[in-house]
Amino acid sequence: MNLQKYDFTPYRDSKRAAAALVTLLQNAHAGEKAAANAYWGHARSLFIWNKEERKQIINIYEDELHHRRRLFDFLQSLDSKPRLIREIGMWCVGASIAIFSLIGTWFIPMYGAGQLESTNIGEYEVAARLALLAGREDLIEELLVFAEVEWDHEDFFRKKVENHWITRYYPLWTKPAPRDSIRSLFKTFQADTKQ
Ligand SMILES: [Fe+2]
Ligand SMILES: [Fe+2]
Repeated sequence: MNLQKYDFTPYRDSKRAAAALVTLLQNAHAGEKAAANAYWGHARSLFIWNKEERKQIINIYEDELHHRRRLFDFLQSLDSKPRLIREIGMWCVGASIAIFSLIGTWFIPMYGAGQLESTNIGEYEVAARLALLAGREDLIEELLVFAEVEWDHEDFFRKKVENHWITRYYPLWTKPAPRDSIRSLFKTFQADTKQ
């Protein structure tokens, strides 16, 4: 999700903001399962020889499961719950990626994970803004922390592949804004909202 392209104008109305937040959290909840499934396979890849690298991917897998548990709590606090069809669909997507990651190359799963993580940062930045507009300030801090954790995940995979020879022919995805900007841009948005 691209924060810069997201139009918050319709969500000045708190009820609409809450509805948009629920949809976004439902999608994120299912997406975290897809990511977790994918990393489960990735951590067991036949192409990862380095034990430390394997352990780091397992840590990322656990981060995604933690996000998912908290997103479930957030949805409940918004009188909502995950959408079954989306959950099933994303579970299958994650399982398919897991199978590929297990037997695919070293490079492609690392590259794909980094590209996916770059979109997750924006997703939680948007969620934090929608929480503000919906009057759910209690969710903001954790959503910003999630964005920072996704930033760290993206950074991990970027550093893995950035010096690989393939990137001379197949460039990396767009680099996210600096980690500090997650907080500073949110503060600017918050100040603008109060005016
Ligand atoms: Fe996550
Ligand atoms: Fe992640």
